Amino acid sequence: MENPYVPYKAQITEVKDEVKGARPIKTFRIKLVDRDRFDYKSGQGCLVSVFGRGESWFTIANSPTRPDLEFSVLKTGKVTAKLHEMKPGDIVGIRGPLGRAFPLEDWKGMNIVTIGGGIGQTPLRSIYQYVIDKEKDYGDLMIIYGARTSRDLVYKDELFKLIEDGYNVQLSIDNPEKDWKYFVGFVPDNVKRLKPNPKDTIAITCGPPIMIKITLNVLRELGFREDQIYTTLERRMKCGLGKCGKCRIESYYVCKDGPVFNYAELSAMLEKV
Ligand code: FES
Repeated sequence: MENPYVPYKAQITEVKDEVKGARPIKTFRIKLVDRDRFDYKSGQGCLVSVFGRGESWFTIANSPTRPDLEFSVLKTGKVTAKLHEMKPGDIVGIRGPLGRAFPLEDWKGMNIVTIGGGIGQTPLRSIYQYVIDKEKDYGDLMIIYGARTSRDLVYKDELFKLIEDGYNVQLSIDNPEKDWKYFVGFVPDNVKRLKPNPKDTIAITCGPPIMIKITLNVLRELGFREDQIYTTLERRMKCGLGKCGKCRIESYYVCKDGPVFNYAELSAMLEKV
């Protein structure tokens, strides 16, 4: 049995600037060295280690139906700062896949609505890529996504390409900008305006806690039941294995019991966060 604390060696093969400026975000494409890619499911994460700096948790940003592994990294601390300096060819460590995934198998035949804010789009990207790749298994897909400004939107090229290809992608920014032709306002207001139909639909939301909280209320007003709403939480993780207690919220270990939670579990937690 492999030691879950020992990382696999992986090589960065591509680095893409998603967002520049004071809070930069880069997406890294990573290939495992000397082994096949491990099996994972949308919603799961990995602990990525930069040797000599430490480890950080990232949700896997691409669907298991796509090649390699992708992580989108917001520069916030010493591990992410070092990662932002890394180039294709550099080696990192990977522990994972970790955590509970979205039950995409159970959602077969349903319509899927993803509602994201800022870098919270990462796990949702894995879902919409999966649903697009297995489109016969699912109903309609609606991607609702917003950020503070157009410069803060991640996966822009991919999203604009999806719009071009006829997918239902609904973008927003918080304040008006010249040449912006999509919605202006907060993400939950866009959800209110678009009124996704709850019939046979699963809604998954991820973003800043306040956005999640308001979005949950909007979805409930639109008639979504608790079992139709999911989200994923980001916490500081250390062991990633439900042992150290670092990621604990009430009686839940986000690394092991999550990061995916349904509405019933989440509303109980948000009351206390
Ligand atoms: S990170 Fe250690 S218990 Fe979750």
